[in-house]
Amino acid sequence: MLNQEPTRDRDFHIACVSDTMAAGLVARWATEADRTYAAGRPRSGASLLALAALRALLFAVTRRTDWIVARSPFGKPSVTPTGAQTGPSVSLSHTAGLIAVAVARGGEIGIDVERHRPRDFAALADQAFGPVEQQEVAAAGQEAFYRIWTVREAMAKATGDGLALVLNRYDLADGVASDRPNEREGWTLLHLLPEPGFSLGVAWSGGRSGVVPYRVDLGFLTGDRDNEDDALHLV
Ligand SMILES: CC(C)(COP(=O)(O)OP(=O)(O)OC[C@H]1O[C@@H](n2cnc3c(N)ncnc32)[C@H](O)[C@@H]1OP(=O)(O)O)[C@@H](O)C(=O)NCCC(=O)NCCS
Repeated sequence: MLNQEPTRDRDFHIACVSDTMAAGLVARWATEADRTYAAGRPRSGASLLALAALRALLFAVTRRTDWIVARSPFGKPSVTPTGAQTGPSVSLSHTAGLIAVAVARGGEIGIDVERHRPRDFAALADQAFGPVEQQEVAAAGQEAFYRIWTVREAMAKATGDGLALVLNRYDLADGVASDRPNEREGWTLLHLLPEPGFSLGVAWSGGRSGVVPYRVDLGFLTGDRDNEDDALHLV
């Protein structure tokens, strides 16, 4: 089911992985190169699980396993199949308890996941968000903060601009509705609550009308599930 040729309606796929799936995913999908890279990262366990999840999602979508992972000088990951010049756009994110990964057929994709916790939302919004976004946080607090924050981070990761874009104080994600794709000046922006207490933002630069994102349950690639018949979900 998942290995059909991508179509107009299959522009990008995302997956979320909790700690309970970590052992199965890492054992089956992480490579030596992933282990070496992750060992040098501050959150090495999460970095390794994210790479394993990314390889599993790439397999689910393309049926290939021969991915070479590289990073830009600013840390943006990219993947190419062995011997190829280009590959799909990818992104990954980790927060305590949850990993999120994304694969897009064209354009640039970014993903960000955050665990909700008490913070001074208004002060953070004042430092980073645009004026309309700040008003949304003043009115709706945590819900608006994490929605806007994760979508902004996802845009920053899609462009590779990192914190410079996250903190630029322009309105980027004001008015984004949750649980469905939002079209915005060439972007497709998505916000979900993937699990209670977590926010997920996705930004895809190949945006056009009618984009239908898919969420993949990776359980069938860890041995937790026998087959992939119900692994693919419309967002
Ligand atoms: C991208 C960034 C905003 C994400 O931060 P975060 O919310 O703390 O972390 P997340 O878990 O959501 O994402 C981390 C992943 O984002 C990816 N990433 C890192 N930098 C990235 C960038 N510039 N663009 C896209 N993705 C990036 C990596 O895959 C990283 O995973 P890893 O740590 O396992 O390698 C932040 O790391 C950042 O601003 N980095 C840029 C730093 C930079 O510009 N440095 C200049 C050094 S020359």
